[in-house]
Amino acid sequence: MAIKAEGVTRASEGRRKEQGQFWVYLDGEIKRYADARVGLMTHALQYGTGVFEGIRGYWSPEHEQLFLLKLREHYRRMQNSVKILKLKIPMSLDELCETSIDLIRRNNFRQDVYIRPFAFKSSEEIGVRLHNLKDSFAIYVTPFGNYVEVDGGIRCMVSSWRRIDDNVAPARAKITGTYVNSALAKTEAMENGFDEAILLTQDGHVCEGSAENIFLLRDGKVFTPPTSDNILEGLTRLAMIELLRKELDMEVVERTIDRSELYIADEIFLCGTGAQISPVIDVDRRPIGDGQVGPVVSQLQKLYFDIVRGHSAKYRNWLTPVY
Ligand SMILES: Cc1ncc(COP(=O)(O)O)c(C=O)c1O
Repeated sequence: MAIKAEGVTRASEGRRKEQGQFWVYLDGEIKRYADARVGLMTHALQYGTGVFEGIRGYWSPEHEQLFLLKLREHYRRMQNSVKILKLKIPMSLDELCETSIDLIRRNNFRQDVYIRPFAFKSSEEIGVRLHNLKDSFAIYVTPFGNYVEVDGGIRCMVSSWRRIDDNVAPARAKITGTYVNSALAKTEAMENGFDEAILLTQDGHVCEGSAENIFLLRDGKVFTPPTSDNILEGLTRLAMIELLRKELDMEVVERTIDRSELYIADEIFLCGTGAQISPVIDVDRRPIGDGQVGPVVSQLQKLYFDIVRGHSAKYRNWLTPVY
């Protein structure tokens, strides 16, 4: 036991050291991660007054290339989040994309990565508000594998935590503070033996996973909650709608979904940049369909992973090459 603990400590110490050497961007400068520090009183650390993005880069050994998925779209969404939280990033859309690419080149990453841009209120003072505060902007990049299971299917529970409402804190913005909502739901699900949580809206309709949008299939049609049901306006969600319609010739309907529709669905899947496409095989201990990964989600996964690794000329415009 002691030996294992020591091994774990050494491994995480090694990772920490390696991470400390990565180049990051902070307020106009490129620095080592270990040298990019914020103070204990930083406003965003105390009050959650920051917004972020999560962007994946997929390494393709065949092309010797790192492809960034929907880079511009992520930064466009970030510009919206920034506006909602009265933040300013002193860079254009092009500059945001270029800075991310430069940073990856400087780190010379040749593996799957995750880019995390982060705009935040950086004044070191007490007082909860959005105005009259200093803004900062950072980008870091880290090697990244699977965030949730994508092969065998996951088991979900409907969370006892409701999704934040637009009039409580806007769900369509990726605000750091509002991720407490996701964290409460995710931990509740995992501590109860499930893999992931499905949150309902304040009025009890299906909303999304802790960090994923949700789709369900019934009788040959695909349904997903509309953007007015307090979901994050997911880019993978839009990608799924496009592939379902164009490649699988399926009807996709954006409409409010009842909880009990989950139990009688033929297939369910969660999707997001981190989670990718994750088939749900069980909800609240009821098997979905026959309790196996379904045929439609399997086809979607194949299409998606081909596209993100640069194997599809048709969808190359989803990707930005780094090298
Ligand atoms: C709450 C929430 N919903 C949905 C998503 C999926 O969004 P996207 O596909 O743009 O990553 C995410 C991931 O960022 C999320 O955090």
